[in-house]
Amino acid sequence: MKLKGLILSGGKGTRLRPLTFTRAKQLIPIANKPNLFYVVEDLVEAGITDIGVIISPETGDEVREALGDGSAFGAKFTYILQDQPNGLAHAVRTAREYLGSDPFVMYLGDNLLWGGIGHLVSSYQPGEDYALVLLTEVDNPSQFGVAELDSLGRVVRLVEKPKVPPSNLALVGVYLFDPYIHEVIETLKPSWRGEYEITDAIQGLVDRGLKVKAHKVRGWWKDTGRPEDLLDANRLVLSKLTRRIEGSVTDSEISGEVVIEEGATVVRSVVRGPAHIARGAWIEDSYVGPYTSIGQGSRVVGAEVEYSILLPEAVVTHLPSRLDSSVIGQRVAVNGRRNGPVKNTMQLVLGDRSQVNL
Ligand code: G1P
Repeated sequence: MKLKGLILSGGKGTRLRPLTFTRAKQLIPIANKPNLFYVVEDLVEAGITDIGVIISPETGDEVREALGDGSAFGAKFTYILQDQPNGLAHAVRTAREYLGSDPFVMYLGDNLLWGGIGHLVSSYQPGEDYALVLLTEVDNPSQFGVAELDSLGRVVRLVEKPKVPPSNLALVGVYLFDPYIHEVIETLKPSWRGEYEITDAIQGLVDRGLKVKAHKVRGWWKDTGRPEDLLDANRLVLSKLTRRIEGSVTDSEISGEVVIEEGATVVRSVVRGPAHIARGAWIEDSYVGPYTSIGQGSRVVGAEVEYSILLPEAVVTHLPSRLDSSVIGQRVAVNGRRNGPVKNTMQLVLGDRSQVNL
């Protein structure tokens, strides 16, 4: 049976401000590729090519422009506007016409899952499993939907962002649904945070005695909701990198798993992997340390950068301190006037087009 895909790419991304004042959170690059692209690739790899994309009025155009009609991914996208951020179940209701009577995979556009979803799709039996949820152990369950299982591993209860979590098993933002979920969604009431929660809809299936299957994450999973999550997701993706040097490297030391894309230039610098340097980037008299992504057309001159993400066309020059655990927005300029050794570290999260003089 053919499953449809539903990617959620709306929302306001408040936890990622200032970066999300100017862009959709789902388009922030992880290892120089927008989060949303990993999501699409996971679906397509699992054979799901008919995909609805939920967009918001604020960032919808940007998402459409980045994803196109789907042909670049071997998929077909249908864009669906969710006019209010009223929750994940509300998004499904908005997509009801598109989804019709087909079972579907819902994938949150700011989630990153290592290892793909192929095994979930193949173990899902529409008509028998009313939902399949994916769970993982976390340290901070109160920030997620949380599942309670019985001794046989069956889902007995699901609660959204509980103050007192019944377990440490968080709901990952990937769900498989039988079309019956639409019936349950029609009966939902808004939660305490004023949203129609998909977690409550799945609880509705459990309450009706319908089978909800649970799987545990095999590799790793990240909800890139906050800047520290973006950096951690970047670290995790970069740790799988394989060395590939296609750009120009002069008088430099490149060690470990480093990608230097064609059209990138590294001069009199040290790059220690894992690190990813995109097309058109320019690194000169600098140090680029582990777990760093340098975006397309960025410039790093006379600076030290480690465990950080530079978005496209960011410029950092002559910094007096090492940039660490930082996210630097598109076309940001951080210009220093260092005339001596680099001292200390500094941590910056800067929205697009910011200007900083040190
Ligand atoms: C949403 C879901 C939550 C789930 C999380 C995964 O949370 O409501 O159950 O654990 O995604 O990313 P939100 O991002 O809306 O806070």
